[in-house]
Amino acid sequence: MSAASGYALVTGASRGIGAAFAQALAAEGQNLILTARGAADLERVRARIVRPGMEVQCLIADLDRGDGAAGLLAAIAARGWTVELLVNNAGLGSGGRFDTLPLARELEEVRVNIAALVELTHGCLAGMRERGSGAVIQVASVAGFQALPFMATYSATKAFVLHFSLALYAEMRPLGIHVMALCPGTTETGFFDVAGIRPAPGVGNAMASPEAVVQAALRGLRRRRAVVVCGGANRAMVAAERLLPRPALARIVAGVMKSWRST
Ligand SMILES: NC(=O)c1ccc[n+]([C@@H]2O[C@H](COP(=O)([O-])OP(=O)(O)OC[C@H]3O[C@@H](n4cnc5c(N)ncnc54)[C@H](OP(=O)(O)O)[C@@H]3O)[C@@H](O)[C@H]2O)c1
Repeated sequence: MSAASGYALVTGASRGIGAAFAQALAAEGQNLILTARGAADLERVRARIVRPGMEVQCLIADLDRGDGAAGLLAAIAARGWTVELLVNNAGLGSGGRFDTLPLARELEEVRVNIAALVELTHGCLAGMRERGSGAVIQVASVAGFQALPFMATYSATKAFVLHFSLALYAEMRPLGIHVMALCPGTTETGFFDVAGIRPAPGVGNAMASPEAVVQAALRGLRRRRAVVVCGGANRAMVAAERLLPRPALARIVAGVMKSWRST
């Protein structure tokens, strides 16, 4: 993807991995559309990264709302902006035994992590198809590779994102559009405060920086990777997990997750 001309649309750009995407893409001279719910946080990110000669637009959208993604797409179309790169990054999780967690939060995860991502992907692919170019980064997780007891809904949403992304990778390739799944492991952001859970120190739980995750993503994008798993330990973990029967793996992971503490 070339710098400037169209825009990169980054969801969840107000902090964490999304803000790091905004920063790294701005450094490449990419025009940006940043979106999230937090207007003040978005504006802070914009002020930090904007450079002369480039555009950084902020659009507020709540992707938990039924009309959130459609409203965002309509606002972009109304301004005549072209999305060349979509970074579907906005997302949230929750930790705890499923039956004890508030249903409203579980459904919010499904709407933001899945429904809004599907809608934004569909909306942006239309223009990319017409132009015969474009790219989509779907922020999944290493949690998408196996069931994660005590983060059941979250890991299931990320399994969706991973499978959805891989299917689109193959569908869109002949059209000149690259779709990539980004699978970070635990990353030092506000994610765990929102999820109400904190990883116990251990194998595979070393916290990456959001900047390292984004550098791996952009490297993977340049190399036209279908899936990027961030970090050697996470790649080894994902490979090892494939060797185990899935119910046994779920029981092992349940034991690990029980050691994670509530925040
Ligand atoms: N941190 C990790 O360990 C980790 C690991 C693997 C994958 N991931 C994935 O990485 C992505 C980014 O997470 P993060 O770690 O950077 O977490 P974060 O710091 O909590 O950031 C989440 C972002 O999503 C936005 N968001 C949440 N709900 C939203 C809604 N209803 N409408 C619009 N935007 C919403 C937030 O903005 P507002 O609150 O301002 O709306 C924020 O910008 C997520 O998809 C997450 O699942 C994270």
